[in-house]
Amino acid sequence: MKKIKTFVCENCGYESPKWFGRCPVCGQWNTAKEVIKGIGKGSKSPLPSLIYLSKNQIENQIRISSNIDELDRILGGGFVKGQAILLGGEPGIGKSTLALQISDKATEKGLKVLYASGEESIDQIFYRAKRIDVSSEIVITTEQNIDTISEVAKDFDLLIIDSIQTFYTPDLGSIPGSISQIRAVTGKMVKAAKENQTVILLIGHITKSGDIAGPKIVEHMVDTVLYFEGERTTDYRIIRVFKNRFGPSGEIAIFEMTSKGLNAVKNPVFIEDDIPFGNAIACVLEGSKPIIVQVQALVSRSKIPSPRRTAVGIDITRVNAVVAVMSKLLKLPLDMHEIYVKILGGMRITDPGLDLAISSAILSSLLEKELSKIVFIGEVGLDGKIRLPFATNKRIETVVQSGFKEVAAPATPIEHRNLIVHETRRLSDLISIMG
Ligand SMILES: Nc1ncnc2c1ncn2[C@@H]1O[C@H](COP(=O)(O)OP(=O)(O)OP(=O)(O)O)[C@@H](O)[C@H]1O
Ligand SMILES: [Mg+2]
Repeated sequence: MKKIKTFVCENCGYESPKWFGRCPVCGQWNTAKEVIKGIGKGSKSPLPSLIYLSKNQIENQIRISSNIDELDRILGGGFVKGQAILLGGEPGIGKSTLALQISDKATEKGLKVLYASGEESIDQIFYRAKRIDVSSEIVITTEQNIDTISEVAKDFDLLIIDSIQTFYTPDLGSIPGSISQIRAVTGKMVKAAKENQTVILLIGHITKSGDIAGPKIVEHMVDTVLYFEGERTTDYRIIRVFKNRFGPSGEIAIFEMTSKGLNAVKNPVFIEDDIPFGNAIACVLEGSKPIIVQVQALVSRSKIPSPRRTAVGIDITRVNAVVAVMSKLLKLPLDMHEIYVKILGGMRITDPGLDLAISSAILSSLLEKELSKIVFIGEVGLDGKIRLPFATNKRIETVVQSGFKEVAAPATPIEHRNLIVHETRRLSDLISIMG
């Protein structure tokens, strides 16, 4: 076998045939370590072990309930044995609170759970356990050596690592939190999950600036990626399924942070009591979850040639497209106005069924006319035509169940007594709704 000399950055794993003083990828100094590698055909490698997939084995893929309904639902029916899950979120968003609640609920259900905390003392964990009223006997460790933790993985059904940035393997010389350690910790835990059929929940910090040392670098290694989102100014917290090898992605679960911990919000209605002009209500779907949200717009005359446009909770390019269609087809002077659009309650909406509510809120602000409690459902095409979004029936059902009496949509496939429908097939129909 031919041997070659290479230099590997101890911090991020960057490889170069030449020595480097400063790593060109992570920018760390003096992290180059000489490694000798064997390449090409040498001694015979052992044959790979072959496993034959049988129908029986596939059907026997066992789901394990977390004992938290909303979590089970977004995971596609609960955990799967041997599943490696990454739960990412900004500092302070509530990851450890959720982890402790999962530990409590799962232990209560009879699962063997180990909660490994690498960043908090036992006292801090006890304090949180008291706050959220833990009722079961949770097993905790503050051991940070991932090799030691792997050794005991076989004894547990669920193992929580809080967080991957604070664990390490002595195999590497780098400090916990470095890219090479994060990769190694995740790799070892994924292996432990598969070998022992233990569910592993790895917690990772991300920052608003999209820190590269964050969990993003290990997304491809795990089966499922969950992101914990929310605005600090509101109590709502959202778990979004970003990737799932065992179920659909895009699903969300909504929780409310209270003094007693996180409570699931099963039928989310994020609207205020009075709806002044500039506000419009929508029924959107994030994953399969219907949510009633309030869109707020402010349209104000601008003195500068390219007026400001901002969006909070929605993609600005969607707002720009809706504004362009409104300007052209309704002949509105929107290019002379600053436009600010936001979703109330700290939600981030990706559903195009929100378009009609965005245009209605903008028009309502421009004309200073209230829309009362009409729920808008529709996707705005570049031709100005309003189209029914997917799962319209489910949205209408939600609107009725939530006690609303009026909807605006291009058509309603199902009829409901006591529901007034404002047929809105083109953007121009909005003008008549506003009277
Ligand atoms: N008594 C309380 N009442 C309401 N909310 C609280 C209370 N105590 C803590 N919280 C909430 O819990 C959050 C902290 O939760 P937690 O420590 O689980 O977050 P984390 O994501 O694990 O943070 P870190 O990044 O520091 O590990 C706080 O930001 C706050 O929103
Ligand atoms: Mg924490």
